[in-house]
Amino acid sequence: MRKQNISFDLTVFDSIEELSVDEKNLMLSAVASRKKAYAPYSNFQVGAALLLENGEVIVGNNQENACYPAGLCAERVAMFYAGANFPGVVIKAVAISATSINHIVDKPAAPCGNCRQSMSEYEVKQKQNIAILMMGEIGEVLKCNAIAKILPLAFDNSFLD
Ligand code: THU
Repeated sequence: MRKQNISFDLTVFDSIEELSVDEKNLMLSAVASRKKAYAPYSNFQVGAALLLENGEVIVGNNQENACYPAGLCAERVAMFYAGANFPGVVIKAVAISATSINHIVDKPAAPCGNCRQSMSEYEVKQKQNIAILMMGEIGEVLKCNAIAKILPLAFDNSFLD
């Protein structure tokens, strides 16, 4: 028997103003997209912006449904659009911003488990890390340099060989 410890590094920025110009612009794209979310049931609006290696920025926001499980998170709307339209193009980074009509979200929005799994798939596929930046509406921004870090012990295609 042996014990193992899994840990990872996060960079914590006090606010969006501390980000590099490129990262700030990507986060601002997520913020702009968040404002177009279709979230009449939760009132929780999320925007995601992907930076592709060709410079293209792909955005997505959460799309809810009267049949709740039929809705989709912002991250997967953006990832699936990139996967569908730019299948061979490396995704370098994803920025996420979330807030609520009911209250200001002042802590970083961490992606749900399903979104981590979906983003991990693209990271494995492209064999290059996807950096992730997470923010609420205001406050700290968290940065992690790979999706794999926030999904330890991930299920991937190696199990299917
Ligand atoms: N949501 C996202 O879009 N991304 C996340 O990472 C967490 C949750 C959406 C799904 C749903 O429309 C609303 O936020 C409340 O869960």
